[in-house]
Amino acid sequence: MAKDKVCGPKVSGRLQDANSFHVMSLMAEAKQLDALGHQVIHMEMGEPDFSTPQPIIEAGIESLRSGITHYTPTLGLPALREAIANFYQKEYRVTVDPEQIVITPGSATALQLVLNLMVSDGDAVVIPDPAYPSTHNLVRLLGGKVLQIAVNEDSSWQLTEELLEEHWNDAINAVLLASPSNPTGTILEDVQLQKIADFCEAKGVFLLVDEIYHGLVYGQAPKTAVSLNDNTFVINSFSKFYGMTGWRVGWIVSPKAYLEDLNKLAQHTFLAAPTPGQYGALAAFNSDTQKILLSRRDEFKARRDYLYEALADLGFKMHVKPQGAFYIYADCSEFCEDSYKFVCNTLREKHVAFTPGVDFGVTSAKQHVRFAYTTNLENLKIGVQRLAELKSKA
Ligand SMILES: Cc1ncc(COP(=O)(O)O)c(C=O)c1O
Repeated sequence: MAKDKVCGPKVSGRLQDANSFHVMSLMAEAKQLDALGHQVIHMEMGEPDFSTPQPIIEAGIESLRSGITHYTPTLGLPALREAIANFYQKEYRVTVDPEQIVITPGSATALQLVLNLMVSDGDAVVIPDPAYPSTHNLVRLLGGKVLQIAVNEDSSWQLTEELLEEHWNDAINAVLLASPSNPTGTILEDVQLQKIADFCEAKGVFLLVDEIYHGLVYGQAPKTAVSLNDNTFVINSFSKFYGMTGWRVGWIVSPKAYLEDLNKLAQHTFLAAPTPGQYGALAAFNSDTQKILLSRRDEFKARRDYLYEALADLGFKMHVKPQGAFYIYADCSEFCEDSYKFVCNTLREKHVAFTPGVDFGVTSAKQHVRFAYTTNLENLKIGVQRLAELKSKA
């Protein structure tokens, strides 16, 4: 029998400060329209439309067929930790001890683990506004405070050392950034990354860099933040570039001094990342898989180039071309005063789905929407055509 909510047990007070993603209810509405037989153009999805490359699928299945169904060690399958360490050597010429790699169920859990390590009651964490929304919710759930620093196109929607200096206070214990960013797709320049790392070191605070979209950069590859100093953590994942969202495998590159703490936290949080996922991920670095992934990256680049130009022609303002991920954060003030209403109307009238700015922050939220080019070029063209019709009607 359903419990009477008024008399039932009390839910944690901290949860009341946490928000759900607005995009989830929009996605549910879009799915309902799909089910009714409408052709909805999905540009709200933060995951690749491509399925997992076949060699990864085969490796996952093979592990299950061989009876490998038990827990791996808490910090991850040794062979996968080694493969990831080799990846840093090959890709970035950065030497990492495999011991520094902690395998997690997706980078969402990596984020949770690292924030648990960094945040005590009252500690403040700096997050750019706009940013991926789970971060502020997790910080608040841990009893921390979020200091959102508004960024804009002048700094490619990224934090700068100058902004940190301007907003600094003694409660801050960590700075968090993502490059390329969700929702803007923009990257932090190598020089600025180094400046921020040096600044955090001088202040004696942690730096956490989310590099989940590093594999999806369409020009000059940025430097990794791994090994920039002794208090910098990097998180990454097999979800986006590797096309493994549903397998739930991510990782942390941690300074050695914090591994024991992370091990303790991981034991009590998730015990071990999914075993078939970890075996599948081992095949992500094979040359066959890499060929597939690189051709998908070319496809994403072609989609970005098309959509960026098409949205600009329609009157969306971007000012800075996103260099990575699969997102375009566009100023929609030509179309509406409130981006949330704009998103709802466009879905209902034109069956085109994308995400309102309110999911990512405060300052620029009402004037911005996020388009995800996680659908093929043909669909993107239909979406653009429908937006043009909407504009000519207005
Ligand atoms: C910036 C960023 N970090 C982390 C995540 C979490 O991804 P996952 O847990 O699938 O690795 C996402 C997902 O959209 C993201 O955009």
